[in-house]
Amino acid sequence: MATKLDPWGAVSIDDYSKLFKEFGISSFEEILPQIDDPHPYMKRHIIFGHRDYQSVVQAMNEKKPFAVMSGFMPSGRVHLGGKMVMEEIIWHQKHGGDAFVAIADMEAHSVRGISWQRCREMGIEEYVLSLIALGFEPSGHIYFQSKSQAVRDLAFELAAAARFSELAAIYGFSGETNVAHMVSVMVQSADILHPQLAENGGPKPVVIPVGSDQDAHIRLTRDLASRMRKFLVEEREGYVSLRGKAAGADLIEAAASHLKEMGYKKVKRYEEHIDVFDAKDAQKIEEMMREFEVEAGGYGFMPPASLYHRFMTGLTGGKMSSSKPDSHIALTEDPEEAAKKVMRAVTGGRQSLAEQKKLGGEPDKCTIYELMLFHLSEDEGELKEIFEECKSGERICGTCKKEAAERIKLFLTEHQREREIARERLSEYGLG
Ligand code: TRP
Ligand code: SF4
Repeated sequence: MATKLDPWGAVSIDDYSKLFKEFGISSFEEILPQIDDPHPYMKRHIIFGHRDYQSVVQAMNEKKPFAVMSGFMPSGRVHLGGKMVMEEIIWHQKHGGDAFVAIADMEAHSVRGISWQRCREMGIEEYVLSLIALGFEPSGHIYFQSKSQAVRDLAFELAAAARFSELAAIYGFSGETNVAHMVSVMVQSADILHPQLAENGGPKPVVIPVGSDQDAHIRLTRDLASRMRKFLVEEREGYVSLRGKAAGADLIEAAASHLKEMGYKKVKRYEEHIDVFDAKDAQKIEEMMREFEVEAGGYGFMPPASLYHRFMTGLTGGKMSSSKPDSHIALTEDPEEAAKKVMRAVTGGRQSLAEQKKLGGEPDKCTIYELMLFHLSEDEGELKEIFEECKSGERICGTCKKEAAERIKLFLTEHQREREIARERLSEYGLG
């Protein structure tokens, strides 16, 4: 038997390494040791990348304010992929984060043409009930985009900082794209930044757990966040420089006075920037200027952090898609039907039993193993055992499938019971 058996074999980070290099997503592995009680997705390398997540980990470890935020477009049934995002939100909530969940009805309406009423029904029926059933607590905030005046107002402000040409470049928008679709992109950026509004406690680290397909949104929003800043603080050789981007003469003057009040002596003011020669620590000035900016009526946004998880393979092989019922398992589907889908799923097994015994299976290409890894096993030891037994040919797919089918049936039955309890509790979430 080969010595290097990796129980997380279904992870082929190789496929994702492109994201690290090309887009500047950081590898999650490096940050994992700093997390006290990591979620299984973290330990199992299902969450593989991040942007700026260290800001959130630091806040979490120091018990300082931070938030978690993500959104769901109510355009179909919620499946196991949606459950992943929900679990990540709930995990951060349990670890002290203020939690925000957007039901993206403006996006569904403008992009998919779904009626407002249908958005409402699907939002509650599919997403909200499952979110609560999985453990989302009422201290968090679940809202429909169209019902949040704060989000809509912020979207308008952000739109003033965004250009059509960049949206066209990022999303492929053309002259034919409907304008509401573009607006919904601004609304999504507002979703992501609004946990930092004064009414929600002001600037703080915020993490957005998403699939890596959403990274374009994250990059745009991080850009917009910094464009909304009044000052850009940069460390130069031996001093710190503040560029007053859109600050205006009065604000630059006030900032220079503020810095002097804070004890800096060698503050030199130019027309559009300020140099502080007796400052070495840009971070400290950055914090100071953020507070100053907020006091002066600005946003002081921190760039939002993000977490990226791998996608599950569809049960039929290929991509998991909400439009292909056999490829996914919905959280609301009949447990018996789900079990049947599992029995039909593509495995990493060989053509014949004899071959399987001789060559061993390929758990890293097996949707059943993936189901176990992503959803159906809480035990690292068990996963390792399955992986090794499969590789060595001791395990046969029939046994594996039956086991997974049983577990999915149990999970869905229990989850659906929890959903009915959640239905009675909607008013606790302001959605009754
Ligand atoms: N666009 C996301 C989707 O298609 C949904 C969404 C809306 C979202 N607002 C968000 C995701 C904010 C993350 C953060 O599923
Ligand atoms: Fe997948 Fe199990 Fe078959 Fe291995 S034995 S290929 S893990 S179903």
